[in-house]
Amino acid sequence: MQYEQQIEALLAQMTLAEKIGQMRQLHGTGETQQQLVREGNLGSVLNVIDADAHEIQRIAVEESRLGIPLLIGRDVIHGFRTIFPIPLGQAASFNPQLVREAARIAAREASASGINWTFAPMIDISRDPRWGRIAESCGEDAYLSSLMGVAMVEGFQGDDLTAPDAIAACAKHYVGYGASENGRDYNTAWIPEVLLRDVYLAPFKAAADAGVATMMSAFHDLNGVPTSGNEFTLRQILKGEWNYDGMVVSDWASVAEMIAHGYAADLRDAALKGVTAGVDMEMASTSYAEYLAALVESGALSLDLIDDAVRRVLRIKFRLGLFDQPYANAAAADSVVAPDHLALARQIAKESCVLLSNQQTLPLNPQQTRVAIVGPLANHAADQLGCWVFDGKPEDSQTPLQAIRELLGDERVQFAQGLPEARSLDQSLFGEAVAAAQTADVVIAFLGEDAGLSGEAHSRAFIDLPGAQLALVDALVATGKPVVAVVMAGRSLVLGELQDKVQAILYAWHPGTMAGPALADLLFGLDNPSGRLPISFPRTVGQVPIYYNRKNTGRPPSEDAPSIPTGTPLDPSGFTSSYLDVDHRPLFAFGYGLSYSTFSYSNLRLSSQKLAVGDTLSITTTVTNTGKYAGAEVVQLYIRDLVGCMTRPIKELKGFQRIHLEPGQSQTVTFELSSADLSFHNNAMQRIVEPGEFNLWVAPSSIGGLQASFELVAKSKEHRA
Ligand code: BGC
Repeated sequence: MQYEQQIEALLAQMTLAEKIGQMRQLHGTGETQQQLVREGNLGSVLNVIDADAHEIQRIAVEESRLGIPLLIGRDVIHGFRTIFPIPLGQAASFNPQLVREAARIAAREASASGINWTFAPMIDISRDPRWGRIAESCGEDAYLSSLMGVAMVEGFQGDDLTAPDAIAACAKHYVGYGASENGRDYNTAWIPEVLLRDVYLAPFKAAADAGVATMMSAFHDLNGVPTSGNEFTLRQILKGEWNYDGMVVSDWASVAEMIAHGYAADLRDAALKGVTAGVDMEMASTSYAEYLAALVESGALSLDLIDDAVRRVLRIKFRLGLFDQPYANAAAADSVVAPDHLALARQIAKESCVLLSNQQTLPLNPQQTRVAIVGPLANHAADQLGCWVFDGKPEDSQTPLQAIRELLGDERVQFAQGLPEARSLDQSLFGEAVAAAQTADVVIAFLGEDAGLSGEAHSRAFIDLPGAQLALVDALVATGKPVVAVVMAGRSLVLGELQDKVQAILYAWHPGTMAGPALADLLFGLDNPSGRLPISFPRTVGQVPIYYNRKNTGRPPSEDAPSIPTGTPLDPSGFTSSYLDVDHRPLFAFGYGLSYSTFSYSNLRLSSQKLAVGDTLSITTTVTNTGKYAGAEVVQLYIRDLVGCMTRPIKELKGFQRIHLEPGQSQTVTFELSSADLSFHNNAMQRIVEPGEFNLWVAPSSIGGLQASFELVAKSKEHRA
């Protein structure tokens, strides 16, 4: 807080125009931006790097009247030059430590280019794989997204935000963007307040508590009010209830877009509504620049609100130490795509891959196997990087084909792409692929989505393997050779048909620069898959949204219902909450993932059968590696609150631990569960801890595991957490 006085001193010297300048952010650099900076009329730019960043920062510091440095923002989403798996893939690692290290590296690399602010992490709870931006998210669960978001914030910002290799993080998109109706980007979201508080706001609260420097308001309309003009979420909850003292930036032109939403009459009205709601800086559009001065001078907008916004902008600049060191971190220039960065990228790519099925085909023997490498993603240096890679370079990518050739030698690898690109319907190359398959012991088919099928404004209504990929698989299967599918994608895809055809599926998301070595390690048993699903995989798009922590309903479907072949209407088997033409359960559940080894769970013990409000329960289980391979297991803790004043989800993740076990080795795993972990919001929006019976599971996924029960006890019926 040592800089609060400096903020006040600076604010006292600023003209109204200079204050409004601090509330503006423009894209790029050119004469216009440079002149605005020189005049003190621009506080931030985005997408300006290297020499351009240095020059515009120099103008701010040396030529503007007050010398206030610029915030220089960029979407450093899953790496800068060294590209890590897409955030959804990183979430599948269930390894926050590794996610933190990846963000640390991304910050170091970005700081070398003069960037001091990233628009990440994206922590929108995402339960709809049609939505292209699910790729940028940490999935469907509030607990997992909170942990991953905090890890990214800590990684970007480091221990000391003034350090030359630290950059400010930005939790986005506040809030509820992932609930856009029917998965169409920018669409309306309706989220009841209880759900908003229990689920959608939770990762943002965690990020705020972890000291995230900034937050970004969103594009969409939430419950009838656009999120960039939403006083309730921004002013009341974020800045009021949470007392958040960081800065809020709008999303790209989202202040001006309130006109199209039908919430603002014109740009003047949009500016008034944006500032009143608590958007401190306007990105890209110019309503603040054009109208704030007149709004203040006419008395329509109080100067106090302007001053509050400017203080927040300046606070971030002081927190970053920009007044002392505004320029790029030259010392980090040599570290860009350095060997230790690539090593971390390889490790996190490995830990993010999820083995979905395996008929004892994997791992392959690296000494003997002759492989046919097929598929549009086997050797595509750009697509393996995924969406949102402004600075990642395909020439840094190591592809699966390259890595497998390096491991096995050229003689044992036949390559035939089979399809010119992921979306292609052209079957003219199938013959070559079939010929390659015939020479091999096993076919590895690299399938999935090209990078352009996910990300912003890239939603899909069909979430199958695109193009003629399934037909290619049919042609390969017809050779009689075993087929292993490696799927790279920016979302959960519908995989039932593929699963029926192939011997194994390894789900790799978009794994980044080191996709090749990471996948070669896993396919050939040099390492063991250990990723777990951060989202439920639907059997068909008709099940969407599908997520594990749903409510039970009054007519719950049976958990051991016979599975219904997709699309085959059966007669109703009772009036339960299910489908006539598809199993109600996901194809692959949240938390699920196989290993080459097997793990058994035993001896579940609780420190007590009763947990008093304010106390903590210790939960202990023994986990044993009962297979032949060393490997990691992600041990998960779920609870269910059986009866509540609000109905409670059938399961809620409350903890997980990633442990490494040698064959035959056992380890005792202990979770601490506090009564506060059991809190939720009641209809009066109080966060309560409600006594009653709970079930808990220590489990390898959101299905199954060892079960126990305990009772939460308190003197009075309801306690404030
Ligand atoms: C996206 C944001 C991003 C911003 C700046 C917008 O279109 O929604 O997530 O940070 O652009 O590039």
